[in-house]
Amino acid sequence: MAFKERVFSGVQPTGNLHLGNYLGAIKRFVELQANYDCIYCVVDMHAITVPLSVWGGPAELTRNIREVAAAFIACGVDPKRHIVFNQSQVSGHAELAWVFNCVARLGWLNRMTQFKDKAGKDRENASVGLYAYPNLMAADILLYRATHVPVGEDQKQHVELTRDIAQKFNNDFHESIHQHGHGEAFFPLTEPLIQGPATRIMSFRDGTKKMSKSDPSDYSRINLTDDADAIAQKIRKAKTDPEPLPSEQAGLTKRPEADNLVGIYAALADITKGDVLKDFGGSQFSAFKGALVDLAVAKLGPIGAEMKRLVRDPTAIDAVLVDGADRARTIADETMKAVKDIVGFVRR
Ligand code: AMP
Ligand code: TRP
Repeated sequence: MAFKERVFSGVQPTGNLHLGNYLGAIKRFVELQANYDCIYCVVDMHAITVPLSVWGGPAELTRNIREVAAAFIACGVDPKRHIVFNQSQVSGHAELAWVFNCVARLGWLNRMTQFKDKAGKDRENASVGLYAYPNLMAADILLYRATHVPVGEDQKQHVELTRDIAQKFNNDFHESIHQHGHGEAFFPLTEPLIQGPATRIMSFRDGTKKMSKSDPSDYSRINLTDDADAIAQKIRKAKTDPEPLPSEQAGLTKRPEADNLVGIYAALADITKGDVLKDFGGSQFSAFKGALVDLAVAKLGPIGAEMKRLVRDPTAIDAVLVDGADRARTIADETMKAVKDIVGFVRR
């Protein structure tokens, strides 16, 4: 069964977009535009699954939605040739998520490590939305019958769940899918695209912890809106070990901080970690960090400046999101019509 190749991915508007979001996701979004039709979504409905005090409330959410859209564009996503929009403008996401709530099993969701991490100890007090989050993510992807999803390593389990949901839907409704002229399978088994030297960027303060929007220490991450001084300071202060850099990649095992900084350099320069070590093997961290500061400022400085310029004109960003949502809705409505027929709902 051949599905039209299509890329979909999403980023939550929860503030503090950082280097991990850029290297693990948004930079890949930009590269994939050359070979695929791409849909990039600001997943605002996912953002409100955490407590209101964490997502920041209405004014902050609105600001963060525009900031993520600005980041996509500033990094090089072309909203004219591809689609950029925010999730809540296309009602099919919520509609398909409900169907998937009835396809996915409790046992499947109970295995999700992100829920366990985010819910923490007080699980009784987590929102129902946080628990059902992976079903909404599956709906995001499958509403467009996307075949490829670029994400960081932390999202692998959710994309696997998306495949399980697609498979179970295809099996449960096999007969109906066939009867309605959709062949053997209605949803594709989506492939995660998790590749390159930067699928999991670690905190600058602790090489065993993921770089994250919610880390209370701003020194743990480089934000996309940081200026040159902030970028330089954070890299210079980043935790390292006392040894010089190894000359081969094998020498990075059990040196999480060194591995992380070399991976960041490689990803920013579009080379491999091995290539970085050819140049810097045997160097002290002070020298390597100097080169990394120059590279990071050269690559990230213009992105941050462009993001700041774009968010100053919210009307223009909103127009991009409305136009993107209109185009996304055209695809989504087709899928929802077919899903309603397949499930047996009566529709107009
Ligand atoms: P989120 O901010 O959780 O919506 O994440 C947006 C995208 O950034 C997802 O594809 C994540 O997998 C990716 N991402 C988030 N943190 C990191 C990280 N530390 N390293 C690599 N990718 C990341
Ligand atoms: N769960 C993803 C994250 O936290 C965001 C997301 C929501 C997503 N829907 C998606 C990513 C669909 C890829 C495809 O990073």
